[in-house]
Amino acid sequence: MAVMKIIKDTDDILRKKSRPVEQINQRILTLLDDMADTLHKANGCGLAAVQVGILRRVVIVEVEKGKIIELINPEIIASEGQQNEVEGCLSIPDRWGITDRPMKVTVKALDREGKEFKVTGSGLAARAFCHEIDHLDGKLFTDNAIRMLTKEELEEME
Ligand code: NI
Repeated sequence: MAVMKIIKDTDDILRKKSRPVEQINQRILTLLDDMADTLHKANGCGLAAVQVGILRRVVIVEVEKGKIIELINPEIIASEGQQNEVEGCLSIPDRWGITDRPMKVTVKALDREGKEFKVTGSGLAARAFCHEIDHLDGKLFTDNAIRMLTKEELEEME
């Protein structure tokens, strides 16, 4: 297991589309483990493989401490409601914005054994699923933020 370097939004790789995983081999399993270490070190709630420089459709989400959800080739298959909450990104340090996201989403993905599963999340989990899956298509939360927080608002958050 290893902590990887998180790529910042000055790097164009974050704008690239990630390719589906065709075979879940040792490299993908190691990537998942390294991403978990990297996420814990950064104290975030989600990470996409592209953020550590790997253009593959692999995402991890951890909104509940100790419960990492690994998503390989994830797809949002249902969404409902709406939420406008504060969102940030490990690749865009110190910037936060209000985004427009569904309140609840259901994601279909493969687990590390290659088995298909579905997971439904609402609130923060829904935001995290949407945010990380957007990364796989080269999208950043700043693209669809309704507005970014001001310096004063950021100070209040601290
Ligand atoms: Ni992000």
